[in-house]
Parts: sequence; structure tokens; C-alpha cells
Amino acid sequence: MYITILFTILCSLNEATFKSNDVHNHLGSRTPYRFRFNKNDTKIKYPNCKDAKIWMLVRHGTRLPSDTDVIGMNTTLKDLKFEILLYHQLGQGELSEKQLSSFEEWSPNVDIEHNKFLTTEGEEELLLLAQRMQKRFPGAIKHKYSNNSFLFKYTATQRAQESARHFANGLFTKKDTQDVVFAPAAKIEPVIRFYKHCDKWQKQIKKNPNTYREQKLFAVSKEMNKTMESVSKRLGFNSVLGLDTVNLMYKVCGFETSWYKHHESPWCYAFDSNDAQVNHAFIKTQHYDPITLVINNTVTDHDLVVVLLNNFKHEKPCEYMKKIDFTKVSKIISETSFTEVVETNKDGPNATFLFAHSGTILKILSHIGLYKPEFPLKGDTLVKNRPWKSSFIDCFAANLAFVLFKCKDGEHVLALHQEHIIKLPMCEKELCSLKYLMKHFHDSIYDCDYSDMCSLESNKSTKDEL
Ligand SMILES: *[C@@H]1O[C@H](CO)[C@@H](O)[C@H](O)[C@H]1NC(C)=O
Ligand SMILES: *[C@@H]1O[C@H](CO)[C@@H](O)[C@H](O)[C@H]1NC(C)=O
Ligand SMILES: *[C@@H]1O[C@H](CO)[C@@H](O)[C@H](O)[C@H]1NC(C)=O
Ligand SMILES: *[C@@H]1O[C@H](CO)[C@@H](O)[C@H](O)[C@H]1NC(C)=O
Ligand SMILES: *[C@@H]1O[C@H](CO)[C@@H](O)[C@H](O)[C@H]1NC(C)=O
Ligand SMILES: *[C@@H]1O[C@H](CO)[C@@H](O)[C@H](O)[C@H]1NC(C)=O
Ligand SMILES: *[C@@H]1O[C@H](CO)[C@@H](O)[C@H](O)[C@H]1NC(C)=O
Repeated sequence: MYITILFTILCSLNEATFKSNDVHNHLGSRTPYRFRFNKNDTKIKYPNCKDAKIWMLVRHGTRLPSDTDVIGMNTTLKDLKFEILLYHQLGQGELSEKQLSSFEEWSPNVDIEHNKFLTTEGEEELLLLAQRMQKRFPGAIKHKYSNNSFLFKYTATQRAQESARHFANGLFTKKDTQDVVFAPAAKIEPVIRFYKHCDKWQKQIKKNPNTYREQKLFAVSKEMNKTMESVSKRLGFNSVLGLDTVNLMYKVCGFETSWYKHHESPWCYAFDSNDAQVNHAFIKTQHYDPITLVINNTVTDHDLVVVLLNNFKHEKPCEYMKKIDFTKVSKIISETSFTEVVETNKDGPNATFLFAHSGTILKILSHIGLYKPEFPLKGDTLVKNRPWKSSFIDCFAANLAFVLFKCKDGEHVLALHQEHIIKLPMCEKELCSLKYLMKHFHDSIYDCDYSDMCSLESNKSTKDEL
């Protein structure tokens, strides 16, 4: 019994055990939440204040790959596996015996019907997240369920729906959980997935080649070429693998790391600097470490697009801000003015939980001005210490919460990102006056018409165009 537990602890892939240049710290949007969560779930208290309401946006938990990637695993990677083993038999490549036997055991076993479904790891991420949040804010998140104090909503996808269900399981007793009412998921969702059916965003950003300019430059940069050469060489190939292939290995390394707590994905060995250094100390004699470049660059490549798709300049998710409520911390409203809500609202949900996607979270982070890069990210220059890093801000089950504290000196909002208290950029302190936030986001909240904003023939806001 003890041995099993000890074994489990030793073998768990936890962030603490990785070096900073380890690929596990650079998995981008496929980083599991167990690398990011906040263990400290002590009740969060401020003198003369009471946590009264919470509004929380959560990305779905760890999921399965898309159908394209499932097919890629079952074809491209399956073939590569045999080639890697063969080349090593011929004396090429740099993998250790242990790594090779891990490749030998590898086989793709994802059912294509289940593409993008929430995984067991994802269920656990949401359940434990809910339990910790409830411990921190017992005033806002009651143990007893009632349909007028809680609001749950998800997008019309299996992964968001299941995330919501497992989050609720973390809050209530089994019996209560059966009564939980989930707001109906709409196919066209102007709030929690506002960009998806926004024509203007689709045309001017998502489908605009300019959006991908820096990423394309990066794909043919010297660093990237060196990267692909070193990955190919490490795996034993005579010729250089294509970008799509290396990218697929990187993705599957991320997925498998997320799914399996106690088992390392062999596809990470293509990028793994630690093991490579142990087994091939001579690599270190080179004046730069190509492996580190792989890791840093592959991730930067991803960040470039993520920044642009969720750009600070182009995005204006004000419809969303209107619904957020520093206002909605108060009440689900759409048209009512906020002050009114704060002052008169006695009923209405005290806890609102929305389950959506990374596109939603990133646009909100960007709108609020969090993690804003100092300079635009470029395909030809690596900014190592950029604050906008998808491995940190865009992991599975990434989340953002606003908690309304009723204090002697008025109402204040506390923001948490990935369960860590953050100071909003426009506020002086962590606990920030609600009145001030309402003023700061006045335009986002009141001057905002979704159909106008997203219409291609819009009368105003031409200044936002690319
Ligand atoms: C890659 O990133 C790690 C950690 O962020 C850093 O220590 C290292 O210097 C970087 N390497 C290169 C070549 O940029
Ligand atoms: C845990 O969180 C509480 C509340 O935010 C804080 O007061 C305490 O210092 C934290 N403990 C540790 C060990 O960080
Ligand atoms: C993988 O491909 C084989 C045929 O090569 C097929 O029989 C199997 O169903 C596929 N599996 C998945 C998960 O797609
Ligand atoms: C909310 O709960 C009350 C009593 O607990 C019940 O009468 C009512 O039908 C419920 N409303 C919904 C929308 O389920
Ligand atoms: C919300 O919280 C307030 C104060 O904590 C409480 O008075 C009110 O009854 C709660 N509302 C609901 C609908 O539970
Ligand atoms: C990288 O490789 C691509 C394709 O082989 C080539 O077109 C490009 O010029 C290379 N980039 C550099 C900077 O050498
Ligand atoms: C543009 O403005 C006109 C007049 O103010 C209005 O009737 C029309 O609906 C507006 N078009 C859009 C797309 O908002």
C-alpha cells in the first residue's frame, strides 16, 4: 500500500520536477491543469468584507484530439514509430533503450467518434477545481444547491457540457447534483462563444492571411530549420521531417502528457532535453543547445497565432463584458444598468459558472489588458520573457474568476486567474472598487451592440479594422 503511494508520488509528472527548458513546461494550450492549479485552498478573507458572489469562466478540461489529429496519430505517427525503431536498429538516432521500448509499447487508441471529448483527467480537473473554489469562497459558493442561487451554462459541445457536470459534482452531494439545472446551450452563442458566429471577426481576423504572417515567417526561420533538423536527427532520420509532422509529434506529446499522470509520452522524447543530455552528453559541447531552441521556438510559433487571433487591438468583446458584469458578478442581466443591479439585487444567482473555450478566455484576458506583451510578437525575434505564454495562460481548464466582496466601505471585486489572486492592470490593489471598474469598463458595458459590432456592413468602429 505505502509502496504504491510512494511510487505514485515519485512517478507523477508534476511541474515541480521539470527544468525550465523541459518540453513539459512548454506544451502550450495542451498543458494539463495539474501543472498550474493553486494548491492553497485556504478561505480568502479580507477584514470587514464578506465574499458574496462569484462569476467564473472556465475552459473545458483536458480533451481528446480533433478528428484530423486522431487520424494523424493512426497513420503518420504509427508509421513514424516503426521507422524510428528501424533506424535505431541500424545504429542511427539518439534515443536510449528505455525510450525505444516506450515507443515499442506505444499505439494510438483514440476512437475518432470521440474526437475532442473530455477525458478522465479533464473530469478530475474540473471536480477538484470546484472543490478548491468552494473552500476559498464559502460565502459565495454554498454547499447546498438551489436553482436560484447558482447558474451553470456551457457551450453546445460535449467537452464543455461534461466539464460543467463534473464541476457541479465537485460542489454538491450526489443527490443535489441530480437537481442541478444547466442553462440551455444555444447553437449560436453570442456570449460565451461570441466570436464564433461574429462575421466580422471571422472575415477580418480568423480568415485573414495577415493574421498568420508572423507565424509563417517563423516557420521558415533559421531557428525553426535547425529545430527540425535536430528533431529528425535525434529520431534517426536521414532527411529532415516536415513542419506538420514535427508539429503533430509536439501536439501528441502535449495530449498524452495531459491524459496520463504516471506515464511519459514517447513523442516528448523528440524534444526532451533532459534525457538527451543524460544519454548524449556530447551534445552539450556545441555552443548552443538545439534542443532548447526546439522547445522555445515551437511554443513561440503557437503563441504568435494565439496572440493575433485574440489580438489586443482587433478584439472588442464588449458584449461579453456587458454580460460579465463585473456586473454579472452581481446578476445575470443583459440590458439593465449595472448600478441598479448592485443596489437592488437581492435575488438572482450568487454563483455563475460558465464553461467555454480557450478562445473565450483569451479574448477576455486580452480585453482586460492582462499579460499584454510589451511589443508585438514577431516571427523573427524570440521574446523569451513575454508575459503572454499559452503554456501558462491557456492550459486545459484555464479559468478566470471575479468575486464580489461586500465590505464596510462598499463593494469590491477580487480577480483570480488559474486560482491565483491577480491585480487587475487598471486597479491599484487586488481588491478593487466595483464602482471604479464599472467606470473603467463603461464603454465595454454600455456602448456595445453585438450585431453592429459583428456586422460586416457596420456603420461604426471602422477604426478597429485591420
Ligand atoms: C529557452 O527557454 C529557457 C527557459 O525559458 C531559457 O532558459 C533558455 O535560455 C531559452 N533558450 C533559448 C536558446 O532561447
Ligand atoms: C494560502 O492562502 C491564504 C489566503 O490567500 C494566505 O493567507 C496564506 O498565506 C497562503 N498560504 C501559503 C502557504 O501560501
Ligand atoms: C486506425 O487505422 C486502422 C487501419 O489502419 C483501422 O482499422 C482503425 O480503426 C483505425 N483506428 C482509429 C482509432 O482510427
Ligand atoms: C427551482 O426549484 C423550485 C423548488 O426547489 C422548483 O419549484 C422550480 O421548478 C425550479 N425551477 C427550475 C427552472 O427548475
Ligand atoms: C445571495 O447571497 C446573499 C448574501 O450572501 C443572500 O442574502 C441571498 O439570499 C443569496 N441569494 C440567493 C439567491 O441565494
Ligand atoms: C529554412 O528551410 C526552408 C525550407 O527548406 C527554406 O525555404 C528557408 O530559406 C530556410 N530558412 C533559412 C533562414 O535558412
Ligand atoms: C446603420 O445606421 C442606420 C441609420 O442609423 C441604421 O438604420 C442601420 O441599421 C445601421 N446598420 C447597421 C448594420 O447597424
